[in-house]
Amino acid sequence: MKLPFFLAKRFVAGESFTESIPKAKQLNNKDLKLTLDLLGENVKDRQMATDTVDSYIRLLEGIKEHGLISSISIKLTMMGLDIDHDFCRKKLFRLLDVAKEQDQFVRIDMEGSENTQITIDIFKEAFDKYGKHVGTVIQSMLLRSKDDINELAEMGADIRLVKGAYKEPAKIALQDMPAIREAFKEQAKVLLEKTSFPRFGTHDDELIDWLKSYTAEKGISKDRFEFQMLYGLREETMVQLTDESHRTRVYVPFGTDWFPYFTRRLMERKENIWFIFSTMFKK
Ligand code: FDA
Repeated sequence: MKLPFFLAKRFVAGESFTESIPKAKQLNNKDLKLTLDLLGENVKDRQMATDTVDSYIRLLEGIKEHGLISSISIKLTMMGLDIDHDFCRKKLFRLLDVAKEQDQFVRIDMEGSENTQITIDIFKEAFDKYGKHVGTVIQSMLLRSKDDINELAEMGADIRLVKGAYKEPAKIALQDMPAIREAFKEQAKVLLEKTSFPRFGTHDDELIDWLKSYTAEKGISKDRFEFQMLYGLREETMVQLTDESHRTRVYVPFGTDWFPYFTRRLMERKENIWFIFSTMFKK
């Protein structure tokens, strides 16, 4: 059974790129940069993976055509990672050829831990070939991330640091919030020291306040890093950060395959569930 889209509207800009353009323009008009994300994951069929890459390429073209200030985020499992790693790598490189040609940027989102190593391996190859046109994500909750951050920072990679949205077992991931926050801070310090423009994806005031005071204390200027948040969450905070001369970017998902993304947002925060209930009763 497919749930009606109005339930997901709080977190998803539209079911198509065209439907999402007005929202994207509104955000750009508030001086917020964007990352557009065509929703979907775990494609099991080569043709679907090929179609997805074509859609990503059309998205890059659409961003140009509509004058949006936006990069894109992609998931390797949408480009056939579960089918065949080489096939997926070729698809990614095809997309990156276009991104490079058009001087655009593609970020490889990080998925569940079964794909961490292969995502980092493919990212490293892509970074060798496409440099500033590609970046990836590190999840601070994973125990391995300390080493991954050191390695990727040493390479000068463009990293978005997040806590991690997937449920992972205690043998490979921190489970409690204070420890995850501490890991995030330690990894943020490495990125701020070793990379030219780290991105921090969080809605957490403790981390936002810490990032502001740590960077001020170390004399790291506001144009050397970026705050990122998800569409539908804390927009007023993003506008305030922008007014304070911080760099900001909103992650804007769209597409018909919104259910897994929507479920992760509900699981993260009970207030999100209440919001959906109140939307249902307003309808
Ligand atoms: P979290 O949900 O842990 O909440 C901590 C505290 O922050 C709350 O107790 C509250 O005080 C405050 N807070 C949170 N939300 C709030 C709200 N809406 N209003 C007011 N206060 C709020 N994950 C992943 O695994 N792979 C990926 O590629 C990405 N990509 C990504 C991109 C971007 C731009 C973002 C922002 C996030 C991701 N994530 C992700 C998701 C990320 O891993 C994480 O699951 C969520 O951001 C939730 O963690 P937070 O640190 O935002 O706050």
